[in-house]
Amino acid sequence: MRLWLAGLAIVATMGGALAQTDLPRVVAERREGLKAVGAHFEAIGGVARSGGDPTAVVDRIAAVQAFFVNFGARFPEGTQQGAPGIDTKALPAIWTDRPGFDRALAELMPRLVTLREAAASGNVANFQAAAQQAGAGCGGCHRPYRAR
Ligand code: HEC
Repeated sequence: MRLWLAGLAIVATMGGALAQTDLPRVVAERREGLKAVGAHFEAIGGVARSGGDPTAVVDRIAAVQAFFVNFGARFPEGTQQGAPGIDTKALPAIWTDRPGFDRALAELMPRLVTLREAAASGNVANFQAAAQQAGAGCGGCHRPYRAR
């Protein structure tokens, strides 16, 4: 119970911090972060395709995991496509169907855990399968919630 309350306090603090930040900056930061995630995944995909040493990308996977921990908080009200002064591909569906968006995120997270474990183990076949699953997790959110 006490832990739960502490968690709630942290979430409330984060929400407050974001509310005080200007929205165009929230969007710029989330896009920067996603660009970095994209670069990490290109490298991960490259190693998977070539059958190279997956231990080389363990740190990249860890960086992606760290970025997504807090991902939902990067989508405050007023940062959807069409909002004034906002340059984004985030579709309004994120806000009209938040449970679906949260579910898409929740589906990616364990796949990243599996991917990191497979990479750290050095087993190429397991890593390739896990990379495909993780990539599908990205697409599972982009299709309904990101404009092309
Ligand atoms: C829960 C939803 C969700 C998941 C999961 C997700 N994304 Fe995205 N992604 C988005 C949204 C929404 C945008 C559009 C953000 C914007 O324009 O403000 C986006 C944008 C991007 C961009 C473009 C950034 C830019 O502005 O140039 C890249 C690259 C990207 N995602 C990579 C990934 C990768 C790789 C994964 C999987 C590891 C992933 N995303 C998983 C929702 C998601």
